[in-house]
Amino acid sequence: MVTDQAGENILAKVARELVASRKGILAADESTGTMKKRLDAIGVEATPENRAMWREIMAGAQGIEETISGEILFDETLRSPLPNGKMISDLLKSKNIHPGIKVDGGVVKINEQGETFTQGLDNLETRLMEYKKMGATFAKWRAVYKIGEKMPSTVAVTSNSIGLAQYAFLCQRVGLVPIVEPEILVLEGNHDINKSKEVTTVVLKDVFYWLKQFGVQLNGMLLKPNMVLPGKDSQNKSSAEEIARLTVETLKATVPPEVPGIVFLSGGLTPDQSTEYLKTMNAMYPGLSWQLSYSFGRALQQEALQAWMGKSENVKATQDAFMVRARKVSQARDGK
Ligand code: 13P
Repeated sequence: MVTDQAGENILAKVARELVASRKGILAADESTGTMKKRLDAIGVEATPENRAMWREIMAGAQGIEETISGEILFDETLRSPLPNGKMISDLLKSKNIHPGIKVDGGVVKINEQGETFTQGLDNLETRLMEYKKMGATFAKWRAVYKIGEKMPSTVAVTSNSIGLAQYAFLCQRVGLVPIVEPEILVLEGNHDINKSKEVTTVVLKDVFYWLKQFGVQLNGMLLKPNMVLPGKDSQNKSSAEEIARLTVETLKATVPPEVPGIVFLSGGLTPDQSTEYLKTMNAMYPGLSWQLSYSFGRALQQEALQAWMGKSENVKATQDAFMVRARKVSQARDGK
């Protein structure tokens, strides 16, 4: 177990700080390809300079540290100086924000149905040590699952659980807090919310089974799951209360109480929906054993990207738009 000079367990301390009250994580770790899609949508060329500019605008927002405890970065962002010449890890640390790093290598198809497993375990420990030297205190690995008649298959569930567990084990050995992200693409399809609950339960049970097999320290990690939702094309829509109830019931049945926090992804929900569902969960279920927080990508950045449009005269409006959303999400942690 890695401890600091006072003998405190560093992994547990960082994990707790990442889910400190009224704070959550900004997932700004879009790969170069995904970032191109986001920039294309606002008519901005996807150059390294424009990507770095975007990261600097977000991290530079005044007051960001009141609502953001950690920011997940992509390799390029952690490695290269910002337009202002600073390293982003230094900028974030000066604001008491933990720099994190996405370390998976994306997904590989394993069958005709388009199921995938996540690659990136080769040399992972060496890469983790390098990221730690560059200032990262936590990491993220995303596994992706589809819902369908025979999906997720056993091979998709098991291979991804083992990948997540190996990653989490190596992170902790190096002294980084692993964020374990099994993302079920719950919005894709016409299934109802009960199917979503069933699949999320199967996946999370298996993930925790393997985390335990690998001896992952549960108080030194965070879980980043999807919320339990009906498919976009489902006939049966669900209220925020139903979504909150089924999501929390699923988590209670699968996530051990030692895990300090659950940080939801937004997964294609609108910023308002993501905020509303998080708020409803926290309002309906005060006093759960884990913190219910956020690690939103799109839900935190979408409105700000729209305000920016790549123009320097819009930077202030962009940061304002980001902070308005960040404050709403932060209040949702208190059920407000
Ligand atoms: P979204 O919130 O946009 O789903 O992104 C979160 C994330 O980190 C996906 O890996």
